[in-house]
Amino acid sequence: MNRRMKSVQIVHTIEGVRSAVAEARKAGQRIGFVPTMGGLHEGHGSLMDRSVSECGFTVVSIFVNALQFGPAEDFQKYPRELDVDAAFCERRGVDLIFAPTHEEMYPREQRTFVEVTGLTDGLCGKYRPGHFRGVTTVVAKLLLAVLPDVAYFGEKDGQQLAVVKRMVADLNFPVEICPVATVREPDGLAMSTRNRYLAPEERRAATAVYRSLQRARALLAGGERDAATVRAAVHDVLAAERAIQVQYVEVVDAEELQPLSYIDGRVMVAVAVYVGGTRLIDNLVYP
Ligand code: PAJ
Repeated sequence: MNRRMKSVQIVHTIEGVRSAVAEARKAGQRIGFVPTMGGLHEGHGSLMDRSVSECGFTVVSIFVNALQFGPAEDFQKYPRELDVDAAFCERRGVDLIFAPTHEEMYPREQRTFVEVTGLTDGLCGKYRPGHFRGVTTVVAKLLLAVLPDVAYFGEKDGQQLAVVKRMVADLNFPVEICPVATVREPDGLAMSTRNRYLAPEERRAATAVYRSLQRARALLAGGERDAATVRAAVHDVLAAERAIQVQYVEVVDAEELQPLSYIDGRVMVAVAVYVGGTRLIDNLVYP
């Protein structure tokens, strides 16, 4: 049967996903997993494509995780369109969607948390207290529900990727974490569920985020090694857009995410901005 003709199965319980995955594993399939919060776009699609091409059975989770949102954040208005997302997954050849309710994931007050220290102090961790604890706790729970061989994460959320990798290594989760390159709009804007909040003028201004990182890349490629100079150049590009308010511009080492003054080895240049009320992040890793 043509992969695209196959219909995607949707389960809402941990027991349901466990038994479907157990059956696929018994049939000899490698299990790929793509955790998401829905509001699916081509960035998520690229993770799914990787999984479908590398694994015989692909599971996508769709769960807007309350635990990772701050009180003033967009949990309430985050898109929830399971029908649209399910059709998207089906077109990509996904085998199973795990779409639990809040009660399924958190049936009682959660008193057990997974926390990665150090890596979560800076960048987004500084401005979103408790966010990464919410992410690592839910990712741990999702990995234990699905028990995949490999799980796919986007480089777009660079700090999240580093934190999840570290959690899996530190806790000996028997899963491979596979990074996937950032998918961008033709004008460079990193795809994000939150891009749909942008008004037309804000959408245009948002292109400065990618341009600012391109400026950083050009400086790094030209041999610039002073982090303050790179940060200032990124700030200059962003400052030219009135609609943009910078939250942070950081140059950190790509493994431990610690701020650098002298650039040596692999670095991440990471940016978080507000465009109107919408928070956008992006990063580049060099070389
Ligand atoms: P969400 O924002 O839905 O993203 C799900 C996955 O898609 C993440 O691994 C993210 O890095 C990746 N992704 C998003 N935009 C991308 C882009 N433009 N290019 C490539 N990959 C992209 O991240 C989360 O959900 C949650 O924190 C989650 C891990 C599901 C835990 O709740």
